[in-house]
Amino acid sequence: MSQTMPSTADLLGNRRRILVTGGAGFIGGAVVRRLLRDSDATVFNLDKMGYASDLTSIQEVLAEQGEADGVRHRLQCVDLKDAEAVDAAVREANPDLVMHLAAESHVDRSISGPGEFISSNITGTYNLLQAVRSHVERLSEARAAAFRLHHISTDEVFGSLGAEGRFSETTPYDPRSPYSASKAASDHLVQAWHHTFGLPVVLTNCSNNYGPWQFPEKLIPVVTLKAAAGEPIPLYGDGLNVRDWLYVEDHVDALLLAACRGQSGRSYCVGGHGEKTNKEVVTTICNQLDQHHPNNAPHAHLITRVIDRPGHDRRYAIDPTRITEELGWQPRHNVEQGLAATVAWYLQHQDWCSKVRDQANYDGGRLGLNRPQ
Ligand code: NAD
Ligand code: TYD
Repeated sequence: MSQTMPSTADLLGNRRRILVTGGAGFIGGAVVRRLLRDSDATVFNLDKMGYASDLTSIQEVLAEQGEADGVRHRLQCVDLKDAEAVDAAVREANPDLVMHLAAESHVDRSISGPGEFISSNITGTYNLLQAVRSHVERLSEARAAAFRLHHISTDEVFGSLGAEGRFSETTPYDPRSPYSASKAASDHLVQAWHHTFGLPVVLTNCSNNYGPWQFPEKLIPVVTLKAAAGEPIPLYGDGLNVRDWLYVEDHVDALLLAACRGQSGRSYCVGGHGEKTNKEVVTTICNQLDQHHPNNAPHAHLITRVIDRPGHDRRYAIDPTRITEELGWQPRHNVEQGLAATVAWYLQHQDWCSKVRDQANYDGGRLGLNRPQ
C-alpha cells in the first residue's frame, strides 16, 4: 500500500501547543525542525542540555523562517530527574500533545555509567507521567479527548535476534543492555499509566536511526569522521552484527503519524527494511570516501577489528506492518541513498562535529569497555 504522507499541519489539526522532550538531541531536533517548518504550532523543547544536545540546527530553521527564538520555539532547560521542575514545565507548556524523546541513548555509555540511564530514562519518565497526569485532569473535555502522550522508544527492548525473524508489537520484551533495560522499564511505566490511570498514550519502538546532526559517538558519524581523518576505524567484534537502519526524517514521519493518528494504548514498531551488517555499513562509507575524499584511499585499509562490546546484541530487525497498514507509513529513503547523503553531510560539517565533541569533552575514543570504575 502506498499513501502520501499527510502534511504536518493536517496531522496536528487543532493541536497548537506541542511539548517535545529531548528536542535538543538528534531525533528530537528533527521533530522540532519539522514542527517549526511545516506547522505554526508553538514548540516547547524540554531538554537538560546534556552532552548530546545542540541547538544549531533549530537556530538555522528559525533564521530561515525569520523567527526569533523564544516565540514559537521555547527552550525549557529542565532535567527530567527534577519532579518539581518537570511539573512546572508541563504547566507552562500547557500542551495538546507531548512527544517524549528525552533519554540517555548510547549503549556504550550505559555500560560505562548505567546510573544516569536509570535516573533519566526511568525516574525521568515517571516524573513526566505524573506531571502529564495532573495536566490532563486540568484540561477541558474536548482538549483531553484529543490529548496524547507519545513515548518514543527503541527496538532494543526486544533483545537480540538470530539469523531469522523480525520484531513486532507482540514480541516479548527481553532487554539486554543497561540502555535497553532502562527504555523497557520506561515503556512499561507508560503502559501502566495508561491502564491504571487512563492516560492517553501512544508508543513507538524504532530501529537504528541515522542522518545529519547526530552526536558523533554512534557508528555512522564515528566511521565517517575517523575515515576522513585517516584514523583507524573501530569495528566491534567480527563486524557481523546487524542493525535495521532508518533515515531520521522517515522516523519523524512515523512519529507524527503515531502521535496524531495512533490509537490510545497502542504501540507501533518502526523500521525501514534496511538491514545491514556493521561491516557492510563501514565498507559502504569507506567506498564513498574513496570517491569524494581520496587522500586516504583506500579507506577500507583503516578498518580495525577491536574488542567486542560486552553483551553485544547480534541482530535487530523490525516488521513495520502495523504502522504501514493502520497509519499508512512508508519510509521515503532507502539505506543506500540515505547513507550517501549522510556521509556527505558529515564531511561538510566536520567543524560542527569538532565543536560538539569539544563541548561534551569527548575525544572520539572508545566508550563502554566495562572497565572497573
Ligand atoms: P540523543 O542522545 O541525541 O538526544 C537525547 C536528548 O535527550 C539530549 O538532548 C539529552 O540532553 C536529552 N535528555 C537526556 N536525559 C534527559 C533528562 N534527564 N532530562 C532532560 N533531557 C534529557 O538521542 P536520540 O538518538 O535523539 O534519541 C531520542 C529518543 O529516541 C530516545 O528516547 C531514544 O531512546 C529513542 N530512539 C533512538 C534511536 C536512535 O537510533 N538514535 C532509535 C530508536 C529510538
Ligand atoms: P551504535 O551506533 O552505538 O548503535 P546501537 O548500539 O544502539 O545499535 O552501534 C551500531 C552498531 O555498530 C553496533 O552493533 C555497535 C557497532 N559499532 C562499531 O562496530 N564501532 C563503533 O565505533 C561504534 C560506535 C559502534
